[in-house]
Amino acid sequence: MRARRFENLPHAGVVSTPYIAGKAWAWVRPMTYIVNENCIKCKYTDCVEVCPVDCFYEGENMLVIHPDECIDCGVCEPECPVEAIKPDTEPGLEKWLELNRELADKWPNITAKKAAPPDADKYKDEKNKFEKYFVDAPGEGD
Ligand code: SF4
Ligand code: F3S
Repeated sequence: MRARRFENLPHAGVVSTPYIAGKAWAWVRPMTYIVNENCIKCKYTDCVEVCPVDCFYEGENMLVIHPDECIDCGVCEPECPVEAIKPDTEPGLEKWLELNRELADKWPNITAKKAAPPDADKYKDEKNKFEKYFVDAPGEGD
């Protein structure tokens, strides 16, 4: 049996390894981090400050990560005070991966920290923020 080996490749994850006619083939896709609804109306932007490839994009009340630009380094994840950043390998994040991709193409790039909204702390622990507050309007970027 011959298996293609991808584990030494950076920025890639094995999606599935089917066996066809006695041979194993691995399909790979890039891994990324995504921003979820916890960011909405908080937008602290601590994450932006540490990203080595400047792949955050700004909406009116949240940020997203461009999945094709993220190099999966993970340094932004612990910087977010509201745990809005997750690796897309966690289950149940497909909706957020698609939304990050779609909006990153529409919204302006943000590369430096800016002041959070004055009432950001009020929304830190709120649930279901997507249904209540999401808007697809772009932010100002920098
Ligand atoms: Fe940027 Fe790294 Fe976070 Fe991706 S994981 S958004 S490259 S800091
Ligand atoms: Fe949003 Fe957290 Fe960054 S609130 S702007 S993902 S630090």
